[in-house]
Amino acid sequence: MLRFSASAASMRSSAIRELMSLATRPDMISFAGGMPGNNLFPVAEMDEIYNKLSLEVKRIGFQYGPTTGYPPLLEALQDYLRQKGMPVDSNNLIITTGSLQAINIVAKVFIDPNDRVILENPAFIGAISAFKSYQAALDPIPIDDDGIILTELQAALQKKKPKAKLLYITPYFHNPAGILYNAQRKTDLLELLKKEDIVLLEDDAYGELYFNAADKELTRPMKTMNSGALPICYTSSFSKYIGPGLRLGWLLAPPEIAEKCELAKQSFDACSSTFTQVLAHEFLVQNKMQAYLEKMRVIYARRAHTMLNALQENMPEGLTWTKPRGGFYIWVSLPDKMDSTEILKKSIANGAVFVIGSTFDPLGVKNDCLRLAFSHTPEEQIEKGIKIIAEALKQQMVKKK
Ligand SMILES: Cc1ncc(COP(=O)(O)O)c(C=O)c1O
Repeated sequence: MLRFSASAASMRSSAIRELMSLATRPDMISFAGGMPGNNLFPVAEMDEIYNKLSLEVKRIGFQYGPTTGYPPLLEALQDYLRQKGMPVDSNNLIITTGSLQAINIVAKVFIDPNDRVILENPAFIGAISAFKSYQAALDPIPIDDDGIILTELQAALQKKKPKAKLLYITPYFHNPAGILYNAQRKTDLLELLKKEDIVLLEDDAYGELYFNAADKELTRPMKTMNSGALPICYTSSFSKYIGPGLRLGWLLAPPEIAEKCELAKQSFDACSSTFTQVLAHEFLVQNKMQAYLEKMRVIYARRAHTMLNALQENMPEGLTWTKPRGGFYIWVSLPDKMDSTEILKKSIANGAVFVIGSTFDPLGVKNDCLRLAFSHTPEEQIEKGIKIIAEALKQQMVKKK
């Protein structure tokens, strides 16, 4: 008998994986993956960047690099973060292998078995798994259209045994809910946390992908607004902005925390890919990032708009869904405690796939909801896919009556 660790023993492959494996038909319309569209990647720009690199820099790209990151990229990222008003001089920056690694590292340096982690419900599945792998006790708090519900958070903060150590939130174009925290919620949240002995992990993987410039101010990270002593670990990533295959994210944290995180990262992978850091560095310093993001904002806004229209036209009465102002996702709430797994089965049989709600419930229960990603599906397929899902829903509703 293999004697797995308690952490590995608690890892479960969900039944949904098998269902998803049926969804690989080439004509399947997928709203499942939380990723950019394949044909949107800046391949030509990267070709040009690589071809123009000096031999010396190409060789650096193949080599190990410092654990905290390729120094020229760190410098360029610091400039970028400084422009956003981030406290880069009083905090340390670490390049990570995606922001999922940043989340994992922060969890590793803070969480012992049964330590309490507060997080939103729903929440990003990667973070849920990371916290669970350190055997955290998860304490999910519901959200509304403007962010985490503060009265519920306050009650959770008052619980003493054990006292929560970490609060993880995704305030900017939430995955899966698609919501954007409003300014008041962010200020009130900071006020509430001021007196707490807790670390805030602020996950900002999508903030640059706002659809209207007027919303840019709302994507201002809480890390820029923190005048008190609250330790905030801020993470973001190139995954949704350039491409997840780069596997590059970053963590900006107070020095005391960052030093521990650097040590933890040494045992994970010594350093993130120098090769992709070299490319990302050039992308930033050649000012290609802003122009590229501007194009992506327009494309994602159009896709979101098409999906919202298709939902409006095709979905039966009784459903509600979030109206994203950026990012990749629409979160659909179903009526009468309907089960999204049943709808997914029918939908897959007819050629469209999405992710069921319980995937994003930290406790894995609540399933009367589902996530639609509009980011990687061309507009012409969006309506067709939504019609398939709407049909599956209608059939399920008739069956329930
Ligand atoms: C909210 C959120 N955080 C972090 C990540 C991790 O992204 P990566 O590790 O590719 O940077 C994702 C990816 O889906 C995400 O949705």
